[in-house]
Amino acid sequence: MVYAAAVMPKVAKDEYDTEKDLEQLAVNVGGCIAWGNAAARLFQSQRFGTLVGISSIAGERGRKGAPVYCTTKAAMNTYLEALRNRLSECGVHVCTIKPGFVDTDMTKGMGKLLWLISADEAARLILKAARAKANERFVPRQWWIVATIIKNIPSFVFKKLNV
Ligand SMILES: NC(=O)c1ccc[n+]([C@@H]2O[C@H](COP(=O)([O-])OP(=O)(O)OC[C@H]3O[C@@H](n4cnc5c(N)ncnc54)[C@H](OP(=O)(O)O)[C@@H]3O)[C@@H](O)[C@H]2O)c1
Repeated sequence: MVYAAAVMPKVAKDEYDTEKDLEQLAVNVGGCIAWGNAAARLFQSQRFGTLVGISSIAGERGRKGAPVYCTTKAAMNTYLEALRNRLSECGVHVCTIKPGFVDTDMTKGMGKLLWLISADEAARLILKAARAKANERFVPRQWWIVATIIKNIPSFVFKKLNV
């Protein structure tokens, strides 16, 4: 089972819109938990199955440009890790996918993007990671370099970055 649904609305610099934020939470986190729990029940009873959650590199840090989107992806990472730890005891695998930029409606109009890949290529890499029983996988893999760098940027520097 692959959980891929998410929304990432544009957020203005000075915008704090709770209704919009809670909708993101409902789709990106609530949806993942609802489908994840349903898959977990089935996979646990049959003692096999693979659950893939499409998270994002965005979950690695809280960025100014997308506070709630980043939050939802961080929450997803933690939920999926917990499911993986629970279900590993009965032969079920949970794989967290962290894509960089993929050419879909979500990235339309964003201009030139680093290491942009097609949706087909992303799907191929995601299935490859799931079949290899990866716990977590950046897609494409080189995004781990960016993740490692951004995770280690001190807060006093990260505050000044307009990302
Ligand atoms: N594109 C990127 O660069 C990128 C990077 C990192 C992570 N991701 C993640 O990859 C996943 C797929 O995103 P995408 O790039 O394919 O974006 P997308 O083209 O905007 O597709 C979003 C998907 O979410 C579904 N969805 C949205 N709201 C929903 C709702 N309320 N109920 C059910 N389904 C809903 C949409 O279904 P409908 O088509 O039926 O509306 C669509 O299939 C997401 O989790 C996204 O966060 C994308």
